[in-house]
Amino acid sequence: MHLAVAIFASALVCTLALDNGLMRTPPMGWLAWERYRCDIDCERDPKNCISENLFKDMADRLSEDGWRELGYVYVNIDDCWSSMERDEQGRLQADPKRFPGGIANLARYMHDRGLKLGIYGDMGTHTCGGYPGTNLDQIETDAQTFADWGVDMLKLDGCYSNESVQAEGYPRMSKALNATGRPIAYSCSWPAYQGGLPPKVNYTQLGEICNLWRNYGDIQDSWDSVLSISDWFFKNQDIVGPAAGPGKWNDPDMLIIGNFGLSTDQSRSQMALWAIMAAPLFMSNDLRTISSGARAILQNKAIIRISQDPMGVQGKRLLQDKSGIDVYWRPLSDNGSALVFFSRRNDMPYRYQISLSKLNYTTGIYKMYEVFMGKVGTVEDTSEFTVSVNPSGVVMLYVFPPVKHRQFHGNAKLHGPAHFHHHDLDNAIPPGFL
Ligand code: GLA
Repeated sequence: MHLAVAIFASALVCTLALDNGLMRTPPMGWLAWERYRCDIDCERDPKNCISENLFKDMADRLSEDGWRELGYVYVNIDDCWSSMERDEQGRLQADPKRFPGGIANLARYMHDRGLKLGIYGDMGTHTCGGYPGTNLDQIETDAQTFADWGVDMLKLDGCYSNESVQAEGYPRMSKALNATGRPIAYSCSWPAYQGGLPPKVNYTQLGEICNLWRNYGDIQDSWDSVLSISDWFFKNQDIVGPAAGPGKWNDPDMLIIGNFGLSTDQSRSQMALWAIMAAPLFMSNDLRTISSGARAILQNKAIIRISQDPMGVQGKRLLQDKSGIDVYWRPLSDNGSALVFFSRRNDMPYRYQISLSKLNYTTGIYKMYEVFMGKVGTVEDTSEFTVSVNPSGVVMLYVFPPVKHRQFHGNAKLHGPAHFHHHDLDNAIPPGFL
């Protein structure tokens, strides 16, 4: 880390991302909170309590069930991991009953499997669950403790704190983490505690000190919760969107796919909208018992490819049609793009007709891939095509870069209108796409 240089330079130009080289694409992994909360009853609920066994179980699943290869590498501890007391040297320590091996051993367990370990702290007197927080005079000690343990990421919450403590503490923790010399990704809950919007929140500064940040409230296991979070981010897209980029991401909170609150269509909607938002993909679910349907959504290679696009531009809502269909778009590298058609209806699948030119695409012939059905269609910018969108569901298209009319040698027929629910599509996916 060229710490002094980075601080000096960012004071001058104010455009640097946190200079730790981490998270050039949105991070992926698993985070305990939404599903396991502060369950510390290991006697009566040994499989679900916050303990080293839970994190080891999830690490085993991530490395043995195909998750790690897709990019899901972070295994993140949330609240309620620590002992109620610091040790004699004033350092945080794990609860000895639930984490008998200690955090350093748990980090080694992750690293041995090609995974990373995340931990949780709070810039305040206590964590939200009432465990010891990090006061201003403990920032350097705690950063060093996490580094000594071999931790790879810190989520720093903001309960039992105030505006001035946060304004001093969050940037100082960033410096303290950098100063340890260990690359530790830094997730800041700061903006969520300040209402998520300027002038109270300074997104330029956040991009310089944090790799990701929570802007808004906690996700819960319900469709209402997913929708209200998504709506907040898209309503404020012109404010929060430009803040995101390689190394610095808005965080609409965890994926709850695989739990109890979402239907299959709603699960697809969360996955699609989070990919459009270039959101971190931290699952909070039970990978030991997850259904094959939920797993297929979370392991969808085309969506992960969209999420992980190297250009790292956060997408936006293009329009809200009076029919109840919203259209979302994310520009991707090499002139590709992603489109999502989302239905707010509650009657039946809605046949929405649109053309790419109406969505401001330039002239050309476009190949499109529907990511959930694995179907390909080819359309001209002006050809109308129909997507059939289920209630609270999505149709998500990866749109390949256009081919100009005169360069098109046309052994692939044009299908106009393309019906993405029909079987008459050209199924050739360009080689190397998936
Ligand atoms: C806050 C955070 C959550 C979770 C809990 C833990 O509510 O926003 O994500 O970390 O605290 O107590």
